Order: sequence, then structure tokens, then C-alpha cells
Amino acid sequence: MIINGRKIADTIYGDLKIEIKKLGKKPTLGAILVGDNAASATYIKQKQKWADFVGINFILKKFPESISEADLLKEIHDFNDDRNVDGFIVQLPLPKHIRSKKIIGAISPLKDVDGFHPENQGKVMIGDTSWFVPCTPAGIMRIFEKLNVDLSGKNVVVIGRSNIVGKPIANLLINAWATVTVCNSKTKKIDAFTRKADVVVSAAGSPGLIKLSDINVNTLVIDVWFTIVDGKTYWDTDFNNMNLWGVMVTPVPGWVGPLTVAMLMKNTVTACSRK
Ligand code: GUN
Repeated sequence: MIINGRKIADTIYGDLKIEIKKLGKKPTLGAILVGDNAASATYIKQKQKWADFVGINFILKKFPESISEADLLKEIHDFNDDRNVDGFIVQLPLPKHIRSKKIIGAISPLKDVDGFHPENQGKVMIGDTSWFVPCTPAGIMRIFEKLNVDLSGKNVVVIGRSNIVGKPIANLLINAWATVTVCNSKTKKIDAFTRKADVVVSAAGSPGLIKLSDINVNTLVIDVWFTIVDGKTYWDTDFNNMNLWGVMVTPVPGWVGPLTVAMLMKNTVTACSRK
């Protein structure tokens, strides 16, 4: 079985359109893009496209790779102070000379619709999801909801320790009473963990990391991350093989990707309604 994240995203957009109508005003989402990273430009285009679709104003500020940290901080403060902007994001990764933690920490937690600010990450950790849950983890939880997966008592293996996916999804799963193991690229014998898993969430960005023989037939596998090598896209899982086994797999970018964007729009509507 293959999970259709696109379809789940469509239902979220349907709900959001109704919510925006009720609000009686168009929410506004800001985005900051630094440099010309091709993947980042693609993500931003998707965010712009779906903001337009659902009825959210989208303000994009683009800056060259050479922008200084101080100038970028000034842009963050401008968005923080702009009453017309409900929420905004800084597309990652940032150039090496800019400290991402400093930039993310400067975003007002009330406008942090990516959910990356330490205050919002901390809220998720203690089980308060009423503000901004990071978008990809929120999308993954929506998949579990749609599939009626009761996570309580399940063995879940998360592969990846990033602040964007690995850590927040681990916290959401812990709060849902799952037994969570977080592996990373330095974990020895990952297959020893994945073989015991009821659910695997892989956000490692390591092509072919999970082999068919590393998992059980009934394991639900959410493959979050993809890697492009010489123009070809690779997933953490050997998706085609797994599909033969009937294991539930979400290949990216088509499946979890749409949910990430939909959750960003949801957070933007939340930010607007809270104001
Ligand atoms: N880079 C990779 N994923 C994301 C995301 O969800 N938000 C931002 N801002 N940058 C990213």
C-alpha cells in the first residue's frame, strides 16, 4: 500500500478555505530565501503556489548568498514588526557564514509558522501542540491519524536527529505513548532496530539506507527524506522492492512533501486567527 499524502493535503486545504472564509480576512505568510540553492527555490515555489491556491498572501524576500548575518537579522525584525504579516519562514539551509540558530531564535515565536523557534520546539516537547508544530512532523502525524494507527505501545524507530524532522517527530511520538528509538547516521547496525519496529520514520537522507530485509512485512515505513545525486532522486528506502511486499511506504517528494506545505498553510491560518 502506498500512502497518498497529496489526497490528505487536499482535505486540509478544503478545511483551510472554510476557516479563511470564516476569518473574513486573507492571512499573510512571509518567506525569506537566501542564495540560490535549487532545492530551496523549489520548496519556496511550492509554498507560493499553495498559498495562492488556499487564499493566503505570500510575500517573498530574496537575498544574495553574500547577505550578512546582521542584515538578515534586520529583515527578521522587519517581519516581526510588520502588523500585516501573520507568520513567516526562513528557508533552510542558510549559507555557512550565517548562524541558523541565531536567525531562528530571532523570529518572534508568535510568527514562527515553521515551528523551529526553541519556544515552539519546547512546547511540542512538553505536549503542547496548540501553537506551531514543525510542518513535516505534523504532516507525518496526520498520516498516522488518517490510517487510524494507534501509536500507544508501538515500537517506532526514527532515523535522523535533525531539529526539522527527527527530534520533533520523536517528541510527538513519545507524547502519543509510542516506544521511540532515535537512530542516526552513526548508529551501528540500524537493521537491529528496524527489524523490531512496528513503524519506521526515516529522515536520514541516505540513499537505500533501509533494505527490504531490514524490516518486517507489516511495518509501516514513512520515508521522509530524499537525496538528489547526479540529477536522480534516491529515497532512504528501496521503495520499488518494498512496494512488492505490500509494506506501507511513503515515497517523497510526492507524498510527505504536500503535507509539509499544507501544514505550513495551516500554521499560517492559526497565526492569523490568534492575532
Ligand atoms: N528546509 C527543509 N525543510 C524545511 C522546512 O520545512 N522549512 C524551512 N524553512 N526550511 C526547510
